[in-house]
Amino acid sequence: MSKKRIFSGIQPSGNIHLGNYLGAIKNWVNLQNDYDSIFCIVDLHAITVPQDPQKLSQKTLEVAKLYLASGINPKKSILFVQSQVQEHTELMWLLNTVTNTGDLNKMTQFKHKTHKEIEKENIKAGLLNYPILMAADILLYDTDVVPVGEDQLQHIELTRKLARKFNQKFGDTFVLPTGFTRNKSKRIMGLDNPTKKMSKSASSEYNWIGILDDSETIKKKIMKAITDSTPEIEYSDKKPALKNLINIFSLIADKKPREIIEKYQNQGYKEFKEDLAESLVNYLKPIQENYSKLNDEDVKKILTLGANQAREIAENKLVEVKKKMGLGI
Ligand code: AMP
Ligand code: TRP
Repeated sequence: MSKKRIFSGIQPSGNIHLGNYLGAIKNWVNLQNDYDSIFCIVDLHAITVPQDPQKLSQKTLEVAKLYLASGINPKKSILFVQSQVQEHTELMWLLNTVTNTGDLNKMTQFKHKTHKEIEKENIKAGLLNYPILMAADILLYDTDVVPVGEDQLQHIELTRKLARKFNQKFGDTFVLPTGFTRNKSKRIMGLDNPTKKMSKSASSEYNWIGILDDSETIKKKIMKAITDSTPEIEYSDKKPALKNLINIFSLIADKKPREIIEKYQNQGYKEFKEDLAESLVNYLKPIQENYSKLNDEDVKKILTLGANQAREIAENKLVEVKKKMGLGI
């Protein structure tokens, strides 16, 4: 039996952080051994908010290097840049015709990104249509499983809905994909605010740990991370800031939260944070070392090869879709 396929992507905007790594990339590295895997750098999604063109292409390369440095193996997985495979935008147009704007307006990410602009009436169509492009990314490759953080599950539900609608209208064409998250890592919270997820677009750099942050910065950020007011080290929803730090510690040290609590119960926050910072520095060190050894020209070659491989699959799917819709002569 042929392997099932996974597809996922990250936007080359802001700094790739520990939430992206633990919530997405780390799972991809494990899954690539068991699945036929395709990983994308979704630059067309990134431009739904303003980007500096020069920085965008630098960031695109940076994200590709981070995938590779984290262990995505181009011999096992296809790795490419979204804008290099034009079938994504073409399928998006076709899917536009089966998408209700009401569904797009309901998306949580859209509401978050636009709540400030609503009165100014300058919300861009690209931001509203963002999930249709994501659906095109996924459906082009007959994807079975989409490994992501929790915030993306709603977009995957919409993707399933569009696929179902299309299949009903034009005949069986698309595979219905399923989202994949891991409980402890699906939502890493901000270090400065445990009620919101760690985010690239956070206003303070004390919200996130960058994968490429140096050891001093990591230590400073962890020592400044907010904790809860009572001194006891416990793993509880009543202490969301501490719970988040224990979760991070547990993920990177591969220990159970209970083991961590037992160790620090009688020591307090300072020792806990110092050890967490040191573990994080050591955890990220190999990725950073791999990153620094990568050569831009080699990475560009890997991406060009990946785009060619992806295009071959995408082209065939698009021909099928257009035929079913009666497009062309
Ligand atoms: P983005 O930063 O929006 O491009 O997200 C890239 C991937 O990282 C997606 O799969 C997200 O769901 C995931 N992700 C982003 N932030 C977090 C977070 N704080 N915790 C867990 N996963 C996250
Ligand atoms: N929207 C996703 C995010 O912000 C990125 C993305 C674009 C994606 N296309 C995708 C993720 C396809 C998984 C599959 O995180």
